[in-house]
Amino acid sequence: MSVRVETLILFGATGDLAQRMLFPSLYNLHVDGLLAEALTIVASGRSKMDRAGCHALVRAALADHLSADRLDEAQIAGFLDRIDYCPVDAGAGTGYDDLAALLGDRLGRPLGAYLSTPPSMFGPIAEGLAGAGIACAECRIAMEKPIGHDLASSRAVNEQVGRAFAEDHIFRIDHYLGKETVQNLLALRFANMLFEPLWNAQAIDHVQITVAETVGLEGRVSYYDGVGALKDMVQNHMLQLLAIIAMEPPASVSSTAVRDEKVKLLRSLRKMSAADVKAHSVKGQYSSGAVNGGAVAGYADELGHPSNTETFVAIKAYIDNWRWKGVPFYLRTGKRMPQRKSEVLIQFKPVPHNIFARGGAGKLDANMMIINLQPEENIRVKVMAKQPGLDRDGVKLKEVTLDVSLSHSFAGERRRIAYERLLLDFIEGEQTLFVRRDEVEAQWQWIDSILGAWAEIDLAPQSYTAGSWGPSSAIALIERDGASWHD
Ligand code: BG6
Repeated sequence: MSVRVETLILFGATGDLAQRMLFPSLYNLHVDGLLAEALTIVASGRSKMDRAGCHALVRAALADHLSADRLDEAQIAGFLDRIDYCPVDAGAGTGYDDLAALLGDRLGRPLGAYLSTPPSMFGPIAEGLAGAGIACAECRIAMEKPIGHDLASSRAVNEQVGRAFAEDHIFRIDHYLGKETVQNLLALRFANMLFEPLWNAQAIDHVQITVAETVGLEGRVSYYDGVGALKDMVQNHMLQLLAIIAMEPPASVSSTAVRDEKVKLLRSLRKMSAADVKAHSVKGQYSSGAVNGGAVAGYADELGHPSNTETFVAIKAYIDNWRWKGVPFYLRTGKRMPQRKSEVLIQFKPVPHNIFARGGAGKLDANMMIINLQPEENIRVKVMAKQPGLDRDGVKLKEVTLDVSLSHSFAGERRRIAYERLLLDFIEGEQTLFVRRDEVEAQWQWIDSILGAWAEIDLAPQSYTAGSWGPSSAIALIERDGASWHD
């Protein structure tokens, strides 16, 4: 068991993520008695403010982002008691000495620096911490995504951070790994005998992974434009989902075993050429339309100028290994879709011979398993059943659904924010749910092949109406193969 950090330094503490997710998650852990009594939190940002000012900010964040039944004045006071504030200007490289002075006796003791800052600050902050003697051998660092914007830049960030912290002290965050439902994919695959024997090219026709959002730019213009859906969603969240769905069984759930299997899988993704992306990828950008019954502006209108950034991407990917030979993995993600849903669909092959075919009555649909990750949490398996009757004209069959609702099965258990799990694992030094350097780099290798091929053929995004499932070519991408998206 790794040591627990005694101090958590939160860089970017005045930012949006800290307000929405990090402070509420830490507070929840505090209320549940999961933070050691002695753990102190040092919030840090560029803004100059005192401890009281920071406490007012945190208090407001809790009120805005937690339900009233979680808020308790005595608990809030106890939580705020843990929190100090120290301004650091990471860009200018100033404030680290003040931080070291504030840490006092805690300097040299295990601490965790959590970076919820622009990615360009990851390297400089790691160096700043090392320069001020704040990065000790037992100290660790956590970083939000993205790590770089391509393979070369991600290597540069990893090198720079790696000079101050050893790899087993670096925690790269992909918040999808903190989601209970994503962790449940491991349980589904490896705690049941039912599925694994069929989890391969012999039995599976294709796999679909959809991460659809109804939101648009959400005021993130400066970050999102020029980044786009491929780098924002596919490079990280979707490839992590794909890796967990498709990897070989790890020997255990240890961080090494799980991440070894994921990286093997990620390295097996077939790189894409110009010809491949022409046939197997679609970029889209939303135009004005309606979502959830309300009119919404198009991406370029929100931005105030035309742009080539894609807000939707669909890709037909292949994994070149024994298990998945010839099985297409259709990935699709987009903003301003008709509904929010993250879903994995496993389309099985038809039975080898239909004994019910006589007279055309017994038409068989191939089995399908649909794993809903959010907002609903359920697993549905479509199976064929005999329709009741005397069968004078042959056996009539009908598709019925085995429906397992996880929210129902675990009703009464509080669904935790993904960041609660990730922050606790970070504090305790458990790395399984964090992305290792070789994974990030394997992800970028595949993404770079697509970006390079897109640039080569100068692929522009096609327009889709906000509130639709993307450009029509995304539908054609899968229908050409005789399948269709599960909408
Ligand atoms: C983030 C992306 O990583 O994930 C956002 O930058 C996206 O663009 C978000 O909206 C989606 O996360 P979730 O948890 O709402 O599915």
